[in-house]
Amino acid sequence: MPNLETVVREIADEMRQRSDRGEVARYIPELARVDPNQFGLAVIGADGTVAAAGDCDVPFSIQSISKVFTLTLALGMVGDRLWQRVGREPSGSPFNSVVQLEYERGIPRNPFINAGAIAVTDLILSRHQPREALGEILRFMQYLAQDNTITIDEEVAASEQRTGFRNVALANYMKSFGVIDNPVEYTLGVYFHHCAISMTCRQLAAAGRFLAHSGRDPSTGLSVVQAERARRINAVMLTCGHYDGSGEFAYRVGLPGKSGVGGGILAVAPGTASIAVWAPGLDAAGNSHLGRIALERLTKRLGWSIFGE
Ligand code: DON
Repeated sequence: MPNLETVVREIADEMRQRSDRGEVARYIPELARVDPNQFGLAVIGADGTVAAAGDCDVPFSIQSISKVFTLTLALGMVGDRLWQRVGREPSGSPFNSVVQLEYERGIPRNPFINAGAIAVTDLILSRHQPREALGEILRFMQYLAQDNTITIDEEVAASEQRTGFRNVALANYMKSFGVIDNPVEYTLGVYFHHCAISMTCRQLAAAGRFLAHSGRDPSTGLSVVQAERARRINAVMLTCGHYDGSGEFAYRVGLPGKSGVGGGILAVAPGTASIAVWAPGLDAAGNSHLGRIALERLTKRLGWSIFGE
């Protein structure tokens, strides 16, 4: 078996040299300013060994990757009742699609498209004031990563708040069907802010460890969720984590994963490792172009695809 550190370093070297870098997200003005030449990768094995390379310690906007953690929190608060508000089927549509909501009477297809994540955020908010809800989400991230320095990038949040017209439309449309309980501006305020959490690959890989190890952090032994819940979150990541690119991601990488328009991807090799990659340029589906290629290289060389070698 090839050495993990060597594989990670070689992949990072290759990715830094490639000229096909995709396009940074432009619809959130603050993200359009990110340098597309960056690349970071961090892998944490079952024994806690970290292999990291490139810009693995540079914070980036985790954007939709936060949806994995808000789903986890909301399931902890309301349990399987959550699935009355949000489906768990792949959408086959872009992450900000409006059209599917009308066909499905305001019930989003899954918790990882924008509409679904806004509905999940609304469930968390129903238990708190907006500031407390956001604080709870941020503390959860800090706890999982064992790192209190993780923060929200207020400029990214404000940038999205000024320009997130589609999300306003999605939230209002769901509200008309009774799927959103709170004032839409409160729900969206929390949503925009949790998308603007800033983390490094190293921190993100640490935060994802419970998903790779049956709901427990193997280093601290602390249980985050039951094994069954971790398994099910991984299943939704596999089928829905890359929007209308989810089939391609499963085909090429073969792991549960969740992308964000900041260019990050969190991927989970069950029982083996938690992986975070970051390359800001995106493909046509809004997923990190080089991030996906790097993960494809990694799983192929290490035989980590859940579908076999
Ligand atoms: O709501 C939005 O558009 C962003 N805050 C998050 C979108 C996102 O990350 C989609 N992922 N690929």
